[in-house]
Amino acid sequence: MNLNYAKPDFYSRKAKDEGYVARSIYKLKEIDEKFNLVKKNQHVLDLGSAPGSWAQYVSAIVGSSGKLVGVDYKEIKVAMPNTTFLVGNFFSDEIRQQLENLGPYDGIISDMAPDTVGDRVRDCFRSSDLTRKSLEFSYGYLKKGGYFICKIFQGGEEKEIMEEMKRAFTAAHWFKPDSSRKISFEIFLVGIGFIGKPDEENSESEYQKFLAESENNDGTMMW
Ligand SMILES: C[S@@+](CC[C@H](N)C(=O)[O-])C[C@H]1O[C@@H](n2cnc3c(N)ncnc32)[C@H](O)[C@@H]1O
Repeated sequence: MNLNYAKPDFYSRKAKDEGYVARSIYKLKEIDEKFNLVKKNQHVLDLGSAPGSWAQYVSAIVGSSGKLVGVDYKEIKVAMPNTTFLVGNFFSDEIRQQLENLGPYDGIISDMAPDTVGDRVRDCFRSSDLTRKSLEFSYGYLKKGGYFICKIFQGGEEKEIMEEMKRAFTAAHWFKPDSSRKISFEIFLVGIGFIGKPDEENSESEYQKFLAESENNDGTMMW
């Protein structure tokens, strides 16, 4: 365990005092204060929602006429109104089918992160892969004009993904919240005003190239 992360900091204590289950709440709050995206009545999908602080924030804003759908491998233990939580892997066919049936969404937000292995290159490309798949899902289930907020580790395909988002949304921004720990290489991508899936230019992503280059001659991976 990283000792810097284990120590409760200002935001961890604030979250506890204010009744939020995680300090992550302040990252979404800062993003929302800057871009003004989460609103009453909206139907929002929260990817990687456990333990549930982003869900607490969104559920309170969308209100009884809105709806929050969350998915995570882990269960959410805190009760919230106007929410449906699915437990499982976002990439499984079963979960995808349920999320498709519950859509479309005004906003899709993702705080998903891969289990890190301590190899920055590998961790970053796996984070990019999560982002790409979430973005791809958004192309099918985000309402026109909707927003997409997604965590990504810096050092993978974030620039390429940002270029793609600039074509898919009216505006696309980087955002590093003050509440994001300085030693963390996470950053957030924010797409506003969904237009539609852009035409494909490069079908092979840097991640796919990276995987191909990492293969030994016998097809096994180097790590
Ligand atoms: C940083 S935490 C999210 C914190 C949350 N936003 C909050 O405010 O409480 C990241 C979560 O993503 C989940 N996750 C990562 N990959 C996932 C996947 N493929 N399917 C479902 N959940 C996933 C993890 O289980 C973890 O709970």
